[in-house]
Amino acid sequence: MPGSTLKRVVVAGGSGLVGRPLVRALAAAGAEVAVLSRAPKRLDLPWGAMGYEWAHLSNLLEGADAVINLAGEGIAEGRWTRARKQVLLDSRIQTTDRLVQAMAKCQRPPAALVNASAIGWYIPRDGAPVDEASAPGTGFLAEVCQAWEAAALKASDLGVRVARVRIGVVLAREGGALPKMVLPVRFYQACKLGSGTQGLSWIHLEDLVAILVEAAGNPAWEGAFNGTAPEPLSNEAFTRLIAHRLGRPMLPIPGFLTAGILQLALGELAQALLLQGAFVRPAHALDLGFAFRFPTAQAALEDLL
Ligand SMILES: NC(=O)c1ccc[n+]([C@@H]2O[C@H](COP(=O)([O-])OP(=O)(O)OC[C@H]3O[C@@H](n4cnc5c(N)ncnc54)[C@H](OP(=O)(O)O)[C@@H]3O)[C@@H](O)[C@H]2O)c1
Repeated sequence: MPGSTLKRVVVAGGSGLVGRPLVRALAAAGAEVAVLSRAPKRLDLPWGAMGYEWAHLSNLLEGADAVINLAGEGIAEGRWTRARKQVLLDSRIQTTDRLVQAMAKCQRPPAALVNASAIGWYIPRDGAPVDEASAPGTGFLAEVCQAWEAAALKASDLGVRVARVRIGVVLAREGGALPKMVLPVRFYQACKLGSGTQGLSWIHLEDLVAILVEAAGNPAWEGAFNGTAPEPLSNEAFTRLIAHRLGRPMLPIPGFLTAGILQLALGELAQALLLQGAFVRPAHALDLGFAFRFPTAQAALEDLL
């Protein structure tokens, strides 16, 4: 069973959309899971997992098989004011720094650090597909992702194997982008955002959890990995699939109109997260033989909607 070689794993940010099913999967595979949280008492954890304050970090890391770091404030929650951007950056870099500094004090540092990053690393991009060998993009998200990965990579100086997972738009029933995309289609009509030609690189939550578990337990998983499905689509093609699945029509609204409205409502966030994109391929995971349960958007949406 994947992950069954993992005896003791520390998960930072394990209470969120990705963390909850990840902790369940690790515990189900027989691992003892320590979940680092700012509020461990409120966590509802499966048998085999325990919540801890960050203050307990050093003891937990000693000799652990892997650390999986997902911690960070929600990128899409609220307008990107200068202060909010600082919070988004600090909540990722400071937590990652804290993990690596604690590893440096261990007599036996953890064998692996699997650190979240995001496909914002590549954005903005034109229609050409990108993979892990491609150059980074520009702008706030690309800068956050590069700084986040650089902070994680410092663990490799301690002999820790580091896998950086550039996560795409996570598709899940219980939260994230999909319920927000589906709501207007279900009750009204579907419409592409802006030109609709921007890449939308997505991943089914179940496949992302499997990638994180594999990266934690398999020594071959080192370096950058795109946590995306093999079939990225344009925003328009993805929206059409949702509309088709729900039996709703596509509304022919001109791109400049939706782009203008989104920019007015959400500012820079709209441009960076909704109106720009990239067609990101998971070349590294495929090279290592990872088999996606939901390789196509159609399969993922049939499962989730
Ligand atoms: N979901 C996506 O579509 C997506 C796409 C690309 C990248 N990612 C990245 O993948 C990671 C996990 O995603 P997710 O959707 O599971 O995120 P999430 O639901 O927002 O969960 C993130 C977790 O980080 C912890 N956290 C938040 N602010 C923190 C802070 N200031 N200091 C320490 N911990 C903090 C929280 O745990 P506690 O409250 O328990 O401390 C929270 O459970 C995130 O870093 C995100 O940026 C997600």
